[in-house]
Amino acid sequence: MSEQDLVHLEKQDGVAVIRLNRPDVLNALNMPLRRRVAEVFESFSAQDDVRAVVLTGDERAFAAGADIADMSKIGAIEMYLRYNERIWGAIAGCPYPVIAAVNGYALGGGMELAMHADIIVSGRSAKFGQPEVKVGIMPGAGGTQRLTRAVGKFNAMRLCLTGEIISAEKAHAMGLVSDLVDDDKVFDHAMSLAKQIASLPPIAVQQVKEVILHGQDASLGAALALERKALQILFASADKHEGMAAFLEKRSPTYIGR
Ligand code: COA
Repeated sequence: MSEQDLVHLEKQDGVAVIRLNRPDVLNALNMPLRRRVAEVFESFSAQDDVRAVVLTGDERAFAAGADIADMSKIGAIEMYLRYNERIWGAIAGCPYPVIAAVNGYALGGGMELAMHADIIVSGRSAKFGQPEVKVGIMPGAGGTQRLTRAVGKFNAMRLCLTGEIISAEKAHAMGLVSDLVDDDKVFDHAMSLAKQIASLPPIAVQQVKEVILHGQDASLGAALALERKALQILFASADKHEGMAAFLEKRSPTYIGR
């Protein structure tokens, strides 16, 4: 399969859809697939007609983790020289809201990929886990850190220390999954959220994302200041004037992203 085919792309009403396509190995993340995902994120991040991204796999797997066959052959320096952080950085740096639509397995690097999203929609029979410890390694793309911030120390420890695979219901109860829906509704639900977001004033949407992500790693005081400054900046936008005028005039707003 060519590197291009590892990911299927589509754009609909301001929503970019990225679909992982290595079905034979449950979308295991080898280097070509990771590179392609990063490339696609970088490309969409630079397109101003994109307002939201839906990231998905297929019915059997969102992604069953880093490719074990590939990792079994390499040593520490080769691992270092892959500069995986640059690949993940391209995904984390996406300015638009990203919605992960998860069916089947989201394990290891697959669950870390889902955690790079801003909203996770999951099917009821999906499975989540950080099983790296079972093959002698550990998470390396946020599984110990984003997960802890999302679900707290004791849930994160439980998952990373045992490698146990958990149900979507459990993942939802611990706060990892935003919306739990029937398996066959996952993609449509994610698209409907993405389209809803895509219809909103884009600068306000991007500021919300930026402030939540940066704020969670700052002190409360610094994060509140960041929030206040972002809000103040939005008062300069044409879309703020339009949104409020439309409300007061009882009409639908037309946003221009300025
Ligand atoms: N890396 C490489 N190949 C993988 C893979 C991974 N992370 N996950 C699945 N595959 C491959 C399998 O080797 C198998 O290939 P084959 O048909 O050539 O034998 C194919 O995908 C289907 O997987 P299989 O194990 O037969 O499906 P299953 O339904 O019995 O089990 C899982 C599904 C997800 C429970 C099981 O594949 C698994 O445990 N995968 C590894 C998960 C993991 O540890 N991820 C973290 C990696 S650090």
